[in-house]
Amino acid sequence: MKKILVTGGAGFIGSNFVRYLVTTYPELEVVNLDKLTYAGNLDNLKDINENPRYRFIKGDIGNKNIVEKLAGEGLDAIVNFAAETHVDRSILDPEAFIKTDIMGTHILLEVVRKFNIKRYIQISTDEVYGSIAKGSFTEKSPIAPNSPYSSSKAGGDLLVRSYFKTYGTPVIITRSSNNFGPYQYPEKIIPFFITQAIYDQKLPLYGDGKNVRNWLQVVDNCRAIDAVLRRGKDGEVYNIGGAVEVENIKIAKAILRKLGKSTDLLKFVTDRPGHDRRYSLDSSKVKKLGWKPSLDFEKDLNDTIDWYINHRKWWEKIIKKQKSFQSFKESWYKTRQ
Ligand code: NAD
Ligand code: DAU
Repeated sequence: MKKILVTGGAGFIGSNFVRYLVTTYPELEVVNLDKLTYAGNLDNLKDINENPRYRFIKGDIGNKNIVEKLAGEGLDAIVNFAAETHVDRSILDPEAFIKTDIMGTHILLEVVRKFNIKRYIQISTDEVYGSIAKGSFTEKSPIAPNSPYSSSKAGGDLLVRSYFKTYGTPVIITRSSNNFGPYQYPEKIIPFFITQAIYDQKLPLYGDGKNVRNWLQVVDNCRAIDAVLRRGKDGEVYNIGGAVEVENIKIAKAILRKLGKSTDLLKFVTDRPGHDRRYSLDSSKVKKLGWKPSLDFEKDLNDTIDWYINHRKWWEKIIKKQKSFQSFKESWYKTRQ
């Protein structure tokens, strides 16, 4: 492969993936198309900004003209990370999720078809399967999303599937579990709780704090996506799950412990409406492509906490805007009690 378009490459996983590609493949050209929503941040890629094999274009995946112009330059693949991604925001205001995660995906698929691009990877999520009490989801598990976010992602996935079945478009879907690591926007639980604890602010745990997430270090996800990009089979879905399943309260306590803060900072708050209890993925299919996740969650979490301690300027720029969203969310959820 010579040239890849990454969409949503200024966000958390996308920026880690762009960096992974540019630093792993010395011949590869990477174009990053990103709308720069509240979650997009060019500071995430400051270290490779001057690299001649990397180029940033500001734009919406829903803008066919921009996507067609880039496709006209000749692309070997498109990897689509662009999405609205936060469940809480989707509950308060779903419209942007439907526009980007469904309609934006549709535009990309049309362009892949028109320009005969040989590989399209749709970055999706385990949340499309809904919640599972026991066992793990395989790629054959039914789709049963419970939030406007996961429904929009499921809508995108179904369009992707239909383009393979109807037009033979060379598409693949990856569905990963919860990612964590550097450059994650501090609205998601791990960076949110780290930054709250650093400021001696409360860590608001939804419900009883015992919901379970299947944690995956972000570079592990990048390696898995790359394996799928190079060795995956058209029309297939690949689950990408981390090695551990952890209750939210355990994550919160581990963060407080590492930062030397008291558990008095824990606060149980009104639950998220439609809150999925547990996610768990069976990743044996992607492992057959030669991938495996890191097994040391404690070290990876501690490294992530250290990264936030050492990159205060990065998140302090963002956090002010986040505060008004938090208080709006808390009062909205309370009205449902
Ligand atoms: P993020 O919110 O950090 O970043 C999303 C990026 O997409 C931002 O840079 C934003 O500016 C860009 N974007 C949004 N709308 C756009 C549009 N219309 N056109 C172009 N760019 C647009 O998200 P993330 O956590 O990095 O997630 C990336 C992808 O991975 C998403 O598709 C998400 O559904 C999926 N995913 C995330 C996780 C996770 O734990 N974070 C897990 C599984 C799957
Ligand atoms: O599973 C993959 C998904 O993981 C991705 O598709 C999403 O884009 C990503 O946002 C993430 O969704 P979650 O809803 O699992 O992530 P979030 O960090 O918002 O919440 C993780 C858990 O922590 C969940 O059980 C809700 C809980 N939580 C979250 C926040 C923000 C709290 O208890 N308090 C909080 O303040």
